[in-house]
Amino acid sequence: MSDMTDSLLIERIEVENSFPAGGVVEIWTINRTDKLNALNSEVMNALKSACNAAENDDDVRVIIIRGASPPAPDGDERQKPAAFVAGADISEFVEKNSKQIRNEFEDDAWEAIWNLSKPTIASIDGFALGGGSEVALSCDLRIATTRSNFGTPEINLGLIPGGGGTQRLTKLLGYGKAMEMVMTGDIIPANEAYRIGLVNRLCEPDDLQPMTMGLAMNLASKSPHTIKVAKRAVRAALELPMAEGVKYERDEFCALFDTEDKEIGVNAFLNRERPEWKGN
Ligand code: COA
Repeated sequence: MSDMTDSLLIERIEVENSFPAGGVVEIWTINRTDKLNALNSEVMNALKSACNAAENDDDVRVIIIRGASPPAPDGDERQKPAAFVAGADISEFVEKNSKQIRNEFEDDAWEAIWNLSKPTIASIDGFALGGGSEVALSCDLRIATTRSNFGTPEINLGLIPGGGGTQRLTKLLGYGKAMEMVMTGDIIPANEAYRIGLVNRLCEPDDLQPMTMGLAMNLASKSPHTIKVAKRAVRAALELPMAEGVKYERDEFCALFDTEDKEIGVNAFLNRERPEWKGN
């Protein structure tokens, strides 16, 4: 395991039979268990650097973001609950004015994650609140354990979500549910989050790691070029009116016919072989 800072640990897992060779899945672990992995400026900066490094490293095929599990308590200490990320670090909000906070939120970690061209998975065990739910929303896919909880409780701090939550929740869940979550700040248990489509998959805590890795390896087995095209085509639906979106998809689809990987994929299917992608 390599670490950029102690508060963001980065592990690279080799993709078996990777095409092109050398592919890895990166696991980013937010590691501030004493504060339920709350995002302070150190973690935010480390996340932005990790995004920059992963985007520029062709070997990185898929990124998983998770929160570190709390250690067993010392002596009489209370066991800390499991957390993905319990929000932005509220202690950093004290006595800050709009100008100071804007500097930090204008070039932010949520947008850096959202703008990654590669597939991202949030692997969630425990609280995913406020800025933590926004990290999950900035990822492409979300897997959560049955003991996880979601919410945007910023309203209770005299705030609203500031990491894209009002926009991404509305796009993901629809206007009605997003409005309810943002206005009430209520915590939603995992089974309800699964029911409303906030998470893609639900599992027991012991199954989270294998289920997340299984999904990551599935995504890593695709052409690294084509999966980026797939990601940006689906994303285009968030921005474009339908007719323009369909045209955009057609342009992307047709452009794939000039790639080596389309020829490789189609021929592999016809020959009943596994495609050995070139990545272009
Ligand atoms: N920012 C800073 N510190 C946080 C935090 C956050 N978002 N969330 C939790 N912590 C800290 C607590 O202050 C506490 O620190 P301490 O042990 O030094 O006192 C530690 O993490 C453990 O949290 P605690 O509140 O004692 O755990 P709990 O099991 O009683 O409650 C929560 C868990 C998640 C319900 C509660 O911590 C909470 O409401 N957190 C804030 C959620 C929030 O509003 N997030 C949105 C922020 S934008």
